[in-house]
Amino acid sequence: MYEFAPTPGQPKSALYADLLEAAQAITQDEPDAVANMANCAALLGQFLPDLNWAGFYRMVGGELVLGPFVGKPACIRIALGQGVCGTAAATGETQLVLDVHAFPGHIACDAASRSELVVPVKRDGTVIAVIDLDSPLHARFDADDAAGIEALAAALAQRI
Ligand code: SME
Repeated sequence: MYEFAPTPGQPKSALYADLLEAAQAITQDEPDAVANMANCAALLGQFLPDLNWAGFYRMVGGELVLGPFVGKPACIRIALGQGVCGTAAATGETQLVLDVHAFPGHIACDAASRSELVVPVKRDGTVIAVIDLDSPLHARFDADDAAGIEALAAALAQRI
């Protein structure tokens, strides 16, 4: 049994430091990518408040394919350049979307989603996956969230 848990009321920087530490601890001795993504999706859901979806899409054969996640069932395949995830994968840049309804081509997997953060996971400069977070709250994510998830993505690049 693992006993990772966020400390109530901690500042966001400490929350992301604890999340990163937990993710590194739970993945460090495990070579299986699916197992590591599954546990990290669970940690994201456990540590980050006000999410309705958190998980991974993987680059497979030139498109994004659904990976381990917590949340409602989601669209399985996303072409590069489509939606928030496909834009992150195509550009290699984090996508911080305060209002998904204002994002051209946003793919609504869960009608409850209002804001979204998508961070590419790069290995040797190539996008191998994206981490996708959805929230039912408008403007749930800010630059601190982006930095926290980017640090997580960097830590996972060799483990997924
Ligand atoms: N909203 C995403 C699709 C994935 S779901 O949010 C899980 C997008 O526009 O790429």
